[in-house]
Amino acid sequence: MIYEGKAITVKEIEGGIAQLDFDLQGESVNKFNRLTIEELHAATDALKAQKKLKGLVVTSSKDSFIVGADITEFSDLFAGSEEDLVANNLQANAIFSAVEDLPFPTVTAINGIALGGGFEMCLATDFRVMAPKAKVGLPEVKLGIFPGFGGTVRLSRLVGVDNAVEWICGGAENRADAALKTGAVDAIVEPEKLVEAAVAIINQCNEGKLDHEARREEKKGKIKLNAMESMMAFEISKAFVGGKAGKNYPAPVEAIKVMQKHAGMTRDKAIEVEAKGFAKMAKTNVAACLVGLFLNDQELKKKAKAWEKEASDVKLAAVLGAGIMGGGVAYQSALKGTPIIMKDINQDGITLGLNEAKKLLTKRVDKGRMKAGQMADVLNSITPTLNYGDFKNVDLVVEAVVENPKVKDAVLREVEDAVREDAILTSNTSTISIDLLAKNLKRPENFCGMHFFNPVHMMPLVEVIRGKKTSDRAVATTVAYAKAMGKTPIVVNDCPGFLVNRVLFPYFGGFVGLVRDGADFQKVDKVMEKFGWPMGPAYLLDVVGMDTGKHAGEVMADGFPDRMKHAETTAIDVMFENNRYGQKNDLGFYKYELDRKGKQKKVVDEETYKLLEPVVQGKNEFSDEDIIARMMLPLCLETVRCLEDGIVEDPADADMGLIFGIGFPPFRGGALRYIDDMGVDKFVELADKYADLGPLYHPTEKLREMAKTGEKFFG
Ligand SMILES: NC(=O)c1ccc[n+]([C@@H]2O[C@H](COP(=O)([O-])OP(=O)(O)OC[C@H]3O[C@@H](n4cnc5c(N)ncnc54)[C@H](O)[C@@H]3O)[C@@H](O)[C@H]2O)c1
Repeated sequence: MIYEGKAITVKEIEGGIAQLDFDLQGESVNKFNRLTIEELHAATDALKAQKKLKGLVVTSSKDSFIVGADITEFSDLFAGSEEDLVANNLQANAIFSAVEDLPFPTVTAINGIALGGGFEMCLATDFRVMAPKAKVGLPEVKLGIFPGFGGTVRLSRLVGVDNAVEWICGGAENRADAALKTGAVDAIVEPEKLVEAAVAIINQCNEGKLDHEARREEKKGKIKLNAMESMMAFEISKAFVGGKAGKNYPAPVEAIKVMQKHAGMTRDKAIEVEAKGFAKMAKTNVAACLVGLFLNDQELKKKAKAWEKEASDVKLAAVLGAGIMGGGVAYQSALKGTPIIMKDINQDGITLGLNEAKKLLTKRVDKGRMKAGQMADVLNSITPTLNYGDFKNVDLVVEAVVENPKVKDAVLREVEDAVREDAILTSNTSTISIDLLAKNLKRPENFCGMHFFNPVHMMPLVEVIRGKKTSDRAVATTVAYAKAMGKTPIVVNDCPGFLVNRVLFPYFGGFVGLVRDGADFQKVDKVMEKFGWPMGPAYLLDVVGMDTGKHAGEVMADGFPDRMKHAETTAIDVMFENNRYGQKNDLGFYKYELDRKGKQKKVVDEETYKLLEPVVQGKNEFSDEDIIARMMLPLCLETVRCLEDGIVEDPADADMGLIFGIGFPPFRGGALRYIDDMGVDKFVELADKYADLGPLYHPTEKLREMAKTGEKFFG
């Protein structure tokens, strides 16, 4: 044994060749935490001290190779000064460079996922062999940073600038064939033959058939581009990548700038440039928010896993109502492997639902993501029906009929009689209280909300809504079914609108208030899109549908009259009364026309301004800050109320719900994180400036208390 630690062991395997094996004790995966880095240092020193070694194979004893850095350590690390961060990176890089400089040929055997720091480890050796199912990549930009263990330096020299830009700025996980094509790895080998192949490469180097020195020099030297080529490669990619990422996500473009800057340098100088750039990105609020998001997501997964343990099996599901939502639920369930019965009261509904599923599946086949045979299997696992014939076999029902409490009440009672006593009933209602819907049920303990978002196949969130009488088993089974459908479930308590719509409608309240006071709705959209929303509020209302928006708004107003009831006619009312339902009938705040590709395109309609005249009470110019404040304050304050009322369990659930459910700008981390970042005291001060606009803008007593004590939502 040459070295033995808790994450790494090094031993001699054959003919003077050593094997450095990553196997982090007590963990299911290898990751670069502090301990692993320290041990890599010690292991490399031990290797250097060996006088007679002829080569090194780097391996992993886990299913994955190394999944990346330990992100749970990032928040503390990034809290340090920029200088400390640079020093920290340089220290770690000295270890990777020491691996690269070992006095014999080195090969990594990539048996499974090698991402981020894990892939940078692979890049430090002379050669890489990779199992067919393994994946490699540098996903750091997803956390608002870029590779900091020499990745920008080694990859750009190994595979060329264009490929390096694509890998680093896209952050994708790359399959073995793609990795081989770009030259990121040298061979694809079955997993059980990886070490053998690595040893063969080392032997060839030692026999003079392969030149590992030349390889090494290439990685350590300057990028081979003349000034003109270099200018073209970097400038074009900066414009392209910058356009795609947008200015709210600076890391991809910074990564290109860093590569451009170190292109003419050799390794050690180049790594200094990378370290400085990395530290700059690590100190951005974007990175802090995205790292926070990652950690929140991990928490969410843990919670879902705990629920799954208590869940009953869902072997067969059913959905009532084959409309927009019901059709989507049937498709998603069947696609992910849970057969489903789809019931409607009329044949037209069923045909519509099935056609929708067919359309989505055909798209998958066309894109090569599915074979025609598989498409048939998926379609066959949706059983359309007009009656309750097979419902005794159903384990879980999703009710998705029209949003009307009376209709839902009747339908839920009917289906309760048609299913087994242990079957779980859920409702996809957007706004109606689960306790209200449970009132006339015989087994309210088996009932909860299962709120999907439109379009079901695209939107990741499912709110699982727990009523007063809902049992743990009902929640657990619904959470497990949502997971099985590939969704992210968040368990919330019952109230009108639950978490997401309860928070969204105050935001629309901010919007109609702005229009009333003379703001141009198009300007509001532009400002909020620049702020980071995927679409502004007027556009969003067009997508949601004005009928849905108006109806749900009324339910919310009944639930929270003090702040959600509108005394006067709103812009939404006007659109609705003029049959401008939004995208569904090509006319809302905007007009919708088909572009040349047959896609719906939004265009300005002057008529909208005329129609809105009666609701506009003044003519005011609003600054961007004003618009942002008037839109964001109600949303954030309602999120605070949801937390205080126990609708969500903790701040992480609230923020994740908004990011996954309504597209809250991820780089801002969520509504509560947004308040934290502004400072609770500053946020309360800002709200008080707008107090005249009514209770939607009034902070809670508890928030005022937090402002005084300096308490935050996160940490
Ligand atoms: N559309 C959305 O954006 C959205 C988003 C989240 C939740 N929801 C909720 O999902 C539910 C369905 O909405 P949708 O947009 O799919 O409506 P939809 O009008 O498209 O579909 C409703 C379907 O239910 C059928 N139906 C009516 N009574 C029925 C009964 N007794 N038994 C079986 N089927 C019956 C209708 O024939 C129709 O096909 C509503 O509660 C809505 O609030 C909608």
